[in-house]
Order: sequence, then structure tokens, then C-alpha cells
Amino acid sequence: MLNDQFGRQFNYLRLSITDVCNFSCNYCLPNGYQCDTPRDFLDINEIKTIVNSFAKLGTKKVRITGGEPCLRKDITDILKICKATAGIEKVAITTNGFNLLDKIDEFAEAGLDALNVSIDSLDPKMFKLITGHDKLVNILNGIDRAIQLNIKDVKINAVLAKQFNHNQLSDFLDWIKYRKVTVRFIELMETGNGAKFFEENHLNGQALKTKLLDQGWTQVVREKLDGPAEEFCHPDYVGRIGLIMPYSKGFCKSCNRLRVSALGKLHLCLFANEGIDLREHLKSNDTLSTINAIQAAMANKEISHELDKRLTGVTTHLAMLGG
Ligand code: 5AD
Ligand code: SF4
Repeated sequence: MLNDQFGRQFNYLRLSITDVCNFSCNYCLPNGYQCDTPRDFLDINEIKTIVNSFAKLGTKKVRITGGEPCLRKDITDILKICKATAGIEKVAITTNGFNLLDKIDEFAEAGLDALNVSIDSLDPKMFKLITGHDKLVNILNGIDRAIQLNIKDVKINAVLAKQFNHNQLSDFLDWIKYRKVTVRFIELMETGNGAKFFEENHLNGQALKTKLLDQGWTQVVREKLDGPAEEFCHPDYVGRIGLIMPYSKGFCKSCNRLRVSALGKLHLCLFANEGIDLREHLKSNDTLSTINAIQAAMANKEISHELDKRLTGVTTHLAMLGG
């Protein structure tokens, strides 16, 4: 098991497989993806080595992220590799959903357990304003297909921002009344490139929590290794609401995840000051030395991010690390 000096256990790997994204969400890549970093992303053998190394260290869950992971032609093979790795119990993906309707049957067959799709607004016009793409209806159809295929765990990520918060809660509540989906509202986090958007748009999730409790939602008790999200259920709704409030006190106490970038760097936190390069171990597909490098790095995991001091580390935008 991977542990740190603060008694936290890490059983969850978030693995980015590309920085590239085809959307231009205004809080993430307002000018679209810029080819200003090397694009020598991890190949399938390196991915196998990473997942295997983490699994040997007690990792039970792998989430494939990006950028937009579904831009990779070998995405289904990557899911299959994760699924076939001894010790990995849950394989998840986070996507903007652009080709979900085409791909979800294939993903289900590959054994996908959990799906997160980013949708910040259910208003097609607002969705297009945020992402630059008029794809909302198609994406929603992809989600309905995922439910039909019995993907166990389907979640929507909706970033909270003043600019598109109008009607956000009531639209999503209507939508989850009869759908087994969890809508997770995520407090906007500041990134290196996103200071201005953050200053203009940050909303505290606490007001939303109060509103939910007032409307009869009950907080669900979470397991020790569930991570920092809070979840709420309501007898009149099939779906659930989640809240991710990285600015709240004690948020990092339940951190259970480690991240690897598409270039093979281990990030001990989304907002860490550096990534630890694992590439030399991965290139030679050396599981043992990868394991040693990961274990050695754990001593340097900090107790918490420093977003409250407006320190965002090396993370210029979340497309480089997958959130
Ligand atoms: N703050 C909060 N969430 C963000 N995401 C991207 N950028 C930010 C940000 N600055 C979300 C995306 C996606 C998830 C991986 O992270 O909307 O759903
Ligand atoms: Fe792409 Fe996700 Fe960033 Fe939107 S939030 S631009 S979908 S990486």
C-alpha cells in the first residue's frame, strides 16, 4: 500500500494519456489547445508498466483522463489493459463526451466500470458558449446509452462559475429525477493561466450545500477511501448530487489519489510544484524501478494544496493533468 507521512493511503491512480483537447472550455483552454508542449505521450507499453506498478503498490482504481482521452485511437485498448491488470478493480474514464455515443458500446465491452462526463450547463446555447461546441444533445444521448448499458457508475462534472450558474441547479435536478446519474458540482479552482476567470467567477460550494439540505437532500456517509467529494441523496430523485469543494478546510485530509501526466510525470498533487519524471523507468518497461521511484517520491507529498494562498504550482490548466 502507498502511504504518506500524514497517514493517508493512496489506492487511486488518475492517468492522463494526452494533453490534447478538442474543446475550448472558457475556464480551462479558452483559446483551445496550443501545441506548446512536447506531444510524445506515453505509449501503450509504458501505460501497461505504470498501471502494473501502481497495482503492485495497492492501487485498486484507475481513471483515464486527458486532455480528452477519447482523442486517442488506442483508447479502448488502454481501457482493456487497465481492466486486465491484476489488482485493478475499477476502471474509469473522464471525457468531454464528444464521441461517447459512438464509443460507449465498445467501452462497455472493454469492461469500463465508471464514466465521468463534463457538462457545465444543460442549456445548449450556454453549453456552446462554454465549450465552443454545439454537441450537448449528442453527449446527453451518449450518457443515456451508458445508463442503458448498465455502466455502474455514471457521473457528470459541472464546474460552478458565476457566469453559467443561473438555472444550473434546477436544470440538473430535473434531469436526474429519473436518471441514475450523480451530478457533481466542482468549485472552480485557480490555475496558472486562469487567474482572471477565477477572480471573476469563483463561487463557494457551501451556499449550494445549504440549499440542498434545505430542500430535503441528505448527505451520504462515505467510505474511508472514497476521496474528498461529498454526496447527497433525496427520496424523490433517482440521481444524486455531489459537491467538490477544494477551498474548504480539511479537503485534502481524505486525499486518496496520485496522478501521472501524459508525459510520464508523477504529480503528488494536482497543484504540486513539480512532476517527478518516471519516463526513464517506463521506456525500459521496468516495473521494479518504476515501483521504487513511486515509493521514494511519497515522502515528499505535502499535507495540502495552497490554493488559499493562490499558489497553483506547475498546473497552468487542468487539461495538462486531467483534474
Ligand atoms: N476548476 C475546476 N474544475 C475544472 N475542470 C477543468 N478545469 C477546472 C478548474 N479550473 C474540470 C473539468 C472536468 C474535470 C476533469 O475538471 O470540467 O470535468
Ligand atoms: Fe477540454 Fe476538459 Fe479542458 Fe474542457 S475542461 S477544454 S473538455 S480538457
